[in-house]
Amino acid sequence: MKTKIRKIDSKNPQKEIIEEAAAVLRAGGLVAFPTETVYGLGGNALDAKASEKIYAAKGRPSDNPLIVHIARMEDLEKIVLEVPEKAKILAAAYWPGPLTMILPKSAAVPYETTGGLESVAVRYPSHPVARDLILASGGFIAAPSANTSGRPSPTTAAHVEEDLTGAVDMILDGGQVGIGIESTIVDFTEDVPTVLRPGYISLEMLREQLGEVRMDRGLLKNDGSQHPKAPGMKYRHYAPKAELTIVEGKTDQVVNYINERAREAAGRGKQIGIIGTSETVPYYPKGLVRCIGSREDEASIALHLYEVLRDFDQYDVESIYSEAFDTPKMGQAIMNRLLKAAGHRVIRVEE
Ligand code: TXA
Ligand code: MG
Repeated sequence: MKTKIRKIDSKNPQKEIIEEAAAVLRAGGLVAFPTETVYGLGGNALDAKASEKIYAAKGRPSDNPLIVHIARMEDLEKIVLEVPEKAKILAAAYWPGPLTMILPKSAAVPYETTGGLESVAVRYPSHPVARDLILASGGFIAAPSANTSGRPSPTTAAHVEEDLTGAVDMILDGGQVGIGIESTIVDFTEDVPTVLRPGYISLEMLREQLGEVRMDRGLLKNDGSQHPKAPGMKYRHYAPKAELTIVEGKTDQVVNYINERAREAAGRGKQIGIIGTSETVPYYPKGLVRCIGSREDEASIALHLYEVLRDFDQYDVESIYSEAFDTPKMGQAIMNRLLKAAGHRVIRVEE
């Protein structure tokens, strides 16, 4: 398959480009497009065949359901059986935006889209390209992140090209996304709303609106005793090719520990990768050092996380060491993704 790449204005998407992409989706094809979180790999959510094509293009296990993206509040009731009061409150507060809600699905949504589940994940994104494309294509786009299964999610069209050239009909290049990690997923099929995947909308922001909100137990501990409820959260994910280890502790001790690893590798004629911040990068004299952002600006850390993880794959690094980033708001989401990328390898350095 030849993949067409079209540049598009992310603030004022050109109508003719949107129409060209929408025609591909209406005909059952696949289009990758930017959202405010990460790039999505889109197909018509109500077309079972299109969903099957998405799984094939990503190399994704078919028990891992897709998110259905809408761009009009009134379209929600067409794909779900009911909307609980609390889901309405969250929709009013955070849609359009980086929030996905799990609700009981209606008959309109094929099981191919929900991975066989009776529930459906729904998101109303705020990105103008996503919004215009959803509306022009008929209202319902199923879209997982536009990476091949297991790789970090794409935050630029170049990342999508790396993974999906030849596997999708079209890529809309709207530049770098705004947030850089995937939407917060909240499950409304349990008595108490439950976060299945942390994201930009923090637990605190959810509790502000709803009162009691739980964290999925499978997210809190990864000791094998609890499985995460979102099927996708159980897979190893976001992982660079070299083994990644997170180093926790006081900053100067973390830097010392990583520098020892860098010196030791250099002594053997090897190089390690290092993920630091603008505050610490000057203190790493050896190794392939990447700055993920500033500790003063957690949004910058979220935005560069996947890009940095992808970047190491281009170099010959023996292993990668990262500082930990438990920042106040998005920290849970950032650490959730980093821990998965590291296969939960964490070293704690202490005096
Ligand atoms: O920000 C995002 O959410 C991006 C953009 C493109 O919108 N999409 C995204 O999709 O991250 P994906 O497919 O990479 O992740 C969807 C996650 C998976 O972990 C999946 O298992 C879970 O949502 N999920 C989908 N439907 C579900 C359901 N009915 N019940 C439980 N988990 C569900
Ligand atoms: Mg994904």
